[in-house]
Amino acid sequence: MNGYLCANGWEETLSRELSAAGVGEHFHSPAAGLVVGESHTSGLRYEPIFARQWLPSCIAVKGTSLTELIQALGAALDPVLDSNPLPWTMHCCTPDFYSEDSTHYEFLSGRAALLHEKFIQRMAKYRKRTLEKYQNWETIDEKRPCFIVQAVLTDTDCLWVSTSRRFKTETGRFVPFMRSLIPGSIPHDSQAPCRSYYKLEEAWQQAGIFPRKGDVCIDLGAAPGGWTWAALKRGARVVAVDFAELKPHVENHPHCEHSIDNGYAFMPARPADWMFCDMIVRPMATLGLLERWLEHKACRKFVVNVKFRGKEPETILTAIEELRHKHQLTKLIIKHLYYDRNEITLIGGL
Ligand SMILES: C[S@@+](CC[C@H](N)C(=O)[O-])C[C@H]1O[C@@H](n2cnc3c(N)ncnc32)[C@H](O)[C@@H]1O
Repeated sequence: MNGYLCANGWEETLSRELSAAGVGEHFHSPAAGLVVGESHTSGLRYEPIFARQWLPSCIAVKGTSLTELIQALGAALDPVLDSNPLPWTMHCCTPDFYSEDSTHYEFLSGRAALLHEKFIQRMAKYRKRTLEKYQNWETIDEKRPCFIVQAVLTDTDCLWVSTSRRFKTETGRFVPFMRSLIPGSIPHDSQAPCRSYYKLEEAWQQAGIFPRKGDVCIDLGAAPGGWTWAALKRGARVVAVDFAELKPHVENHPHCEHSIDNGYAFMPARPADWMFCDMIVRPMATLGLLERWLEHKACRKFVVNVKFRGKEPETILTAIEELRHKHQLTKLIIKHLYYDRNEITLIGGL
């Protein structure tokens, strides 16, 4: 059984995506934010758009108390760790269903944190040697092989446990991918003009590429200035294109130029380092805009947010695949980000 974590409410979309990609069958959702199914080995190389995290070889273990859950987790892990004498690390979380029942979610999150702490204490006693390298999620050295244990608490008495070896695919991506945002991994910025600021930061994190000091960025649909602010903070120069107003501290920033213009028709005189687009326009219009920029070679890299209605983005995904093929966007990343709602984000370059 393979599991995938997704945003709450996107389980069906993810199940359809996985089935259409031919990576497995019988996908269904046993809990909010979780999809499981039988995957083919070809699934190893496929990173779904709507999954935030992959839980390879996962099983459900049960326990009515924390002690029972820890025992069940130990019983599931001991034989696997015995046959894989690698440094290992463990990530313990809940799926994302905050919006559905925040009280229950907060309770489960606290319980998951406690379970993690107690389990690591148990393992430190018995498996000191193998645990020493990777006690924290953040300290994983991606260049060295290691063993990943993921434990997802879907209810008070139910824990989904995944065990896998981490490896690198030919495209340079690591599997199992672990793209869930760790709470707090994007530091809070009290000056961020809006929530969108975090979306662009997350997109850069996903792709592992960031604007550099002096880079020229064109931000289409920039107001109130979240994305522009994110780029300015990294030392870039930004042309913020929008009819609407920017927050004063963004507008008055010495490296910000506010262009009161139609972002849809805007084209820079010289190629820019980055093009950002977060305009609320029809998805096909957004893709048309991106195509024009690609044809003109008007930017080296881009982050484009494609917004849609409902939860059936299949036609849009087909159009994106055509664009990828036509312009040989081999490194294009398409992702339903943690901060995305009815939208997906394209991150790529020429
Ligand atoms: C979702 S908001 C962008 C938020 C922005 N990324 C941020 O972080 O603050 C969409 C913006 O697109 C702008 N917009 C929509 N159509 C536009 C157009 N044709 N030209 C310029 N701006 C446009 C709207 O005025 C609005 O400010």
